[in-house]
Amino acid sequence: MSTVNKPLVIGNWKMNLDFVEAVHLGQQIGVMLRNKPAEHTEIVVAPPFVDIRSVSSIVTSERIPIAVCAQHVNPHDNGAHTGEVSTSMLKRLGVEWVLVGHSERRASYAMDDAVVAATLRAVVRSGMKAVLCVGEALEVREADGQDEFVREQLLSALNGLDPKFHDQVTVAYEPVWAIGTGLTASTEQVRAMTTHIRLVLPTLSMGASRVLYGGSVSAQNAASILSEGRVDGFLVGGASLKAESFLAVVQACDDCYALMANRRS
Ligand code: PGA
Repeated sequence: MSTVNKPLVIGNWKMNLDFVEAVHLGQQIGVMLRNKPAEHTEIVVAPPFVDIRSVSSIVTSERIPIAVCAQHVNPHDNGAHTGEVSTSMLKRLGVEWVLVGHSERRASYAMDDAVVAATLRAVVRSGMKAVLCVGEALEVREADGQDEFVREQLLSALNGLDPKFHDQVTVAYEPVWAIGTGLTASTEQVRAMTTHIRLVLPTLSMGASRVLYGGSVSAQNAASILSEGRVDGFLVGGASLKAESFLAVVQACDDCYALMANRRS
């Protein structure tokens, strides 16, 4: 974990849970947080579009201390984009965060670098926070090209971004080979990449962004990745679908932050 930033944990529910199941999970998270509040960690959940209104409603009415994220958004304001959703529609529903350029969207839904850059701009201009997802495929890692690959992804998405929006950007490093596979990057691999990302960001005049890790994060591996990988939190897929395993990741972040704060004082 880096020394300054408070941890952030985002649960990416992907294409799982209908609105009834999503409300149930949101309420379970609420009950568990009432019994044991997260003291330091910021918590965000990213339900499918059709669940957002229901999840937002219970978050507000039951005062659950979590924020709502969308998994994607169309960069256009409105118009002839059948099947798509705009930033203003999400804002109306109380969405504060949007994942931008998740590898599943890049690989399966033609989200190239230009679309990622346009989407990121649309998100921050609307006042929401963007989680820019970057990460290399296995072939790239095997050829030892991961640093250059991730650098290119960061530059193409962030170069020229108006500095007034820098605070609204979080970076999530998610090696494609570790997503949903049960294979986690080693703490050394995570540490090397977060260090690399923190060297690239200042070349774009961006220094303070939080850097998350994603890829088969679980209650079992969260503490070691956090303490040794120098990440500021996690983007969690599979383990975010159960309140217990999701909040165990949150708890690991909370404990690690408290330990480091003690050491600093
Ligand atoms: P996973 O997914 O935790 O299931 O690997 C992470 C993600 O894709 O954000």
